[in-house]
Amino acid sequence: MIKVNLEYTGLNDLSQEVKDSEIIKVDAMIRNRTGAGADFLGWVDWPVNFDSTEYKAMKKVAKNLRSKIDTLIVIGIGGSYLGTRAADEMIRGLNHSDKVEVIYAGHTMSSSYTDQLTKYLKNKHFGIAVVSKSGTTTEPGIAFRILEGQLVQQVGAEAAKELIVAITDKSKGALKALADQKGYQTFEIPDDIGGRFSVLTPVGIFPLLVAGVNTDNIFDGAKKARKQLSKHDLANSAYQYAAARYVLNTKYGYKTEALVSYESQMQLLTEWWKQLFGESEGKDGKGLLPTSMVFSTDLHSLGQWVQEGTRNVMFETVIRVKKPLANVKVPKNKDNLDELNYLTSKTLHEINSTAIEGVLDAHFNVGKMPNIVLEFDKMDDEMFGYLVYWFEMAVAMSAYLLEVNPFNQPGVDIYKKNMFKLLGKPE
Ligand code: PA5
Repeated sequence: MIKVNLEYTGLNDLSQEVKDSEIIKVDAMIRNRTGAGADFLGWVDWPVNFDSTEYKAMKKVAKNLRSKIDTLIVIGIGGSYLGTRAADEMIRGLNHSDKVEVIYAGHTMSSSYTDQLTKYLKNKHFGIAVVSKSGTTTEPGIAFRILEGQLVQQVGAEAAKELIVAITDKSKGALKALADQKGYQTFEIPDDIGGRFSVLTPVGIFPLLVAGVNTDNIFDGAKKARKQLSKHDLANSAYQYAAARYVLNTKYGYKTEALVSYESQMQLLTEWWKQLFGESEGKDGKGLLPTSMVFSTDLHSLGQWVQEGTRNVMFETVIRVKKPLANVKVPKNKDNLDELNYLTSKTLHEINSTAIEGVLDAHFNVGKMPNIVLEFDKMDDEMFGYLVYWFEMAVAMSAYLLEVNPFNQPGVDIYKKNMFKLLGKPE
């Protein structure tokens, strides 16, 4: 369901650039759990190992919550919200008409944002899914305190109990203690799955169920990816991508990778990808800087730089979706004042695909910018599950090739501790 096309990279034969034996060695570290951070490899078998009893319970609680609300507030930051939002936008779209609107909070400490949100919620029937693995992160902690208070004020403490769900560690952290004391439903984030790898756990699955997304299809996609990525060498497509970006970085000196999508509803997916790769690889002075663009939108802003700006720094990885969700045609107009009648035999998807061809040629052949192309079959729930697993396998391979631990984030922890100190948090 994802094909890697290296035609526009200038890499003629990947197996000449990276030895298969190197890939096989790292693959064994992932599958046999022998590499650094191996305690966090629970995601590898999660699509087949997830707790079906908890999944059933989540479905029941989500159905009940969905029947009572028009707005779901998902409170979380980093890995505790990006995957959910990526799925929500990619699957439901940006202008959907589902009965439940999902709004994100706790990913910012902006006073203005919080004020606007609390005012907006005054006349809403809202529920809260608060997500924090550690249960102690400042941003979601503050947002939950404010929004929980507002909900209790609007509906009363007893009714609020039915409208609040906490997704956190099974025993540790302030959020777990608070939820237990107040009688809120909790779902567990597995110990061996880190934040940015957790979207297929209750972290993403519970809010997506409330949003009416078909999560069975998401799991089917992840299972399919797990099955198709069973190869241990460069025949594995996720490893082809990992190896290509590793070579461009370490052998040819590229420092930045831009993930490019031609679908606006994939913008948050690229944010999720930035966290996955940036936090997994950016350590010990290593790692590509992950950045992203949406084309053709950004061709009218950053396109100039991409075509003719500083060379040999950035390469692009382009997501090309083969099948559109729907076919929209350019309508015929008898006056043709806008001179667009020459396009009326085409669909928008055909025009978008032609743009991809033209841009690949311009960026690679003229602009000398390498482009890895990732061909995606489609853009739906099943594909979301598939791509999550695919990118997770790719980042594990890619980080281990760089000889860094993909599963820790010591830099993020430094900032968190500094902030606690400056704000005077008691030990
Ligand atoms: O990937 C990670 O582990 C981090 O980005 C976390 O997801 C983020 O810091 C939020 O942490 P928590 O879920 O503990 O609130």
